[in-house]
Amino acid sequence: MAVYASFRSIGAYAPEKILSNSDLEKMVDTTDEWIVKRTGIKERRIADKHISTSDMGAMAARAAIERSGLSKEDIDLVVCATVTPDYFNMPSTACIISDKIGISNVQAFDISAACSGFVYGLSIAKAFVESGMKKNVLVIGAEKFSSIVDYTDRSTCILFGDGAGAAVISATTDKSEAFIDIHASADGSYADFLVTPAPGSVHPANQKMLDEKLNFVQMKGNETFKLAVKTLTKDVVDILEHNNIESSQIKYFIPHQANYRIIKAVGDALGMREDQVVLTVQKYGNTSAASIPMAINDIFESGRLKEGELMLLDTFGGGLTWASALIPFAGKVK
Ligand code: UT7
Repeated sequence: MAVYASFRSIGAYAPEKILSNSDLEKMVDTTDEWIVKRTGIKERRIADKHISTSDMGAMAARAAIERSGLSKEDIDLVVCATVTPDYFNMPSTACIISDKIGISNVQAFDISAACSGFVYGLSIAKAFVESGMKKNVLVIGAEKFSSIVDYTDRSTCILFGDGAGAAVISATTDKSEAFIDIHASADGSYADFLVTPAPGSVHPANQKMLDEKLNFVQMKGNETFKLAVKTLTKDVVDILEHNNIESSQIKYFIPHQANYRIIKAVGDALGMREDQVVLTVQKYGNTSAASIPMAINDIFESGRLKEGELMLLDTFGGGLTWASALIPFAGKVK
């Protein structure tokens, strides 16, 4: 009998501390009006000093496992998408999260696909589950983006926030619960559009790295913006056409929350109604790999997302990477 991947549960964690636009007005030369008009962001969450990416990932993962109705012993693969890992080289954040939530002796690894990381993680989970290699995969997107943001650079510090989201992806034989499709892609020729230059083998950690602030994220914002709108529009049109699905059949369009103007442009191109488009960018900013699972969690916790409803995910980020997915929510609602 064929085995499919199903999206069994969602969980998330957002730090309590809020960094508002008026706080940023006191830190850099910007205004609340500029930020809201250009990005839609009003505030973002920032993790305390003692909270690491794995702490946030572990909190999201615990919620996802509890809501899945499974026990942690049932999880047989842990994948963490992050570009702000606890440690740059090793151990992986997935290993640390596994330990924090009490999962041992299972495969665990990180993936690096920036903001596209969670949807990339879902494609990995789908492949493992549908090949029969794993039964219940924990996919986490977790970021302490504030750890790589230069809070004197107004072009980036207004955008990003911290947080985590997690999902349990389980094997099912019920085709109505199955992932419909995932497209994931990349183009490394645009690598310099979004980059944290150091530390790494190109620029190992040294005094020059600190003097030149190479450890902070750098972005060609406007170029990235234009490419994001063009690429995402094509990508979501392609996945819908490929699967013979009309945008009206989508219950929730859940895009990466980088910029309201990107979301609006892509949503309009698809003819999405306002009630179909999920927005959290105003309250969380851009949380990179955590953005999509935090948004799914938002509609789950507010009681909007019900079992069987069709989600269209789309994302774009450093690499450059992008991805889209058509997935019915297969979680039980309390
Ligand atoms: O998550 C991964 C994918 N990331 C994205 O998709 C992000 C894509 N990019 C964006 O969201 C937008 O490009 C930004 C929000 C980053 C910038 O908006 P923009 O409309 O592309 O503005 P811009 O970079 O073209 O800058 C316009 C002006 C510039 O001034 P001049 O040169 O016209 O005098 C900037 O210096 O706005 C200025 N500016 C600011 N002004 C006030 C840039 N940042 C700020 C700021 N406050 N925070």
